[in-house]
Amino acid sequence: MEIFKTKAALKAFLQPLKASAKKIALVPTMGALHNGHISLIKLAQQNADIIICSIFVNPTQFTDPKDLEKYPRPIEHDLAMLEDAGCNGVFMPDVEEMYPAGADEAWHIDLGNAEFLLEGEFRKGHYQGVTQIVKKLFDAVEPDVAMFGQKDFQQVLMIKNMLAYFKLPITIITCPIIREDDGLAMSSRNIHLSASDRKHSLVLSKSLQFVIDHFNEYSLEELESKAKSFYNNLDGVELDYFTIANGDTLEPAKSKDENNLVALVAAKVGSTRLIDNMIIK
Ligand code: PAJ
Repeated sequence: MEIFKTKAALKAFLQPLKASAKKIALVPTMGALHNGHISLIKLAQQNADIIICSIFVNPTQFTDPKDLEKYPRPIEHDLAMLEDAGCNGVFMPDVEEMYPAGADEAWHIDLGNAEFLLEGEFRKGHYQGVTQIVKKLFDAVEPDVAMFGQKDFQQVLMIKNMLAYFKLPITIITCPIIREDDGLAMSSRNIHLSASDRKHSLVLSKSLQFVIDHFNEYSLEELESKAKSFYNNLDGVELDYFTIANGDTLEPAKSKDENNLVALVAAKVGSTRLIDNMIIK
């Protein structure tokens, strides 16, 4: 497995592969890898010849400087996991390589109204930062396909909107959410959960599963209010939102007959903010 710190070194590695018509997949990450990330690598291997994983903790998408500071960076462990998974190359630039003019570099594109809903409401500017770095990574790798997790449902939508905005010829593949045995969606932030937070964290997947299991039984309003009641009287748990939304617009669903419905949730558990979702149909 090759490791690249610069765009130039990465390009030099990829150029002959592209010349021989190898299909390139990019798996963008911020490191602190877990089996959710590795599932993206595995799915990439089924869809391309050469897999490049990027590890870059992108400052422009963090709205809370403390969150950026405490973001885990276990690089040796990450590289061992990627090697084990059969990843071909790792791109791990420093901030200067990605933002030569500084991380306050101007960037603003129209991502549609969904940018301002859900996560966009709680993390202002987050998706501008995400699309800014993903565009830079796409420019550096020029992949045929790129893998993203359904775990960050809104992120996938924003990246598809960014792709349409620049008319980039890249196929986005959305990968299913990988969970712990008890249902908690894997996340790099889960290591911050205390033992009691870890128990409480199950409320996210349980409330989503409730909606899936009882979808035919109740109205949308009833489903939402019953799901929200899971969060009552849980010490240290603070619900940011729980919504049943249209998966294309992220606007609240108006009818159970809509084609593309998804339940999405965000909650603080202790000092850790968790998100999760389940596709209803
Ligand atoms: P990060 O949080 O490291 O996630 C990298 C990729 O792994 C994302 O596409 C995310 O949706 C996916 N992922 C995370 N947890 C998962 C799980 N439990 N199951 C399946 N996939 C999972 O998302 C980012 O980084 C950044 O915003 C990034 C796109 C790299 C831009 O900086």
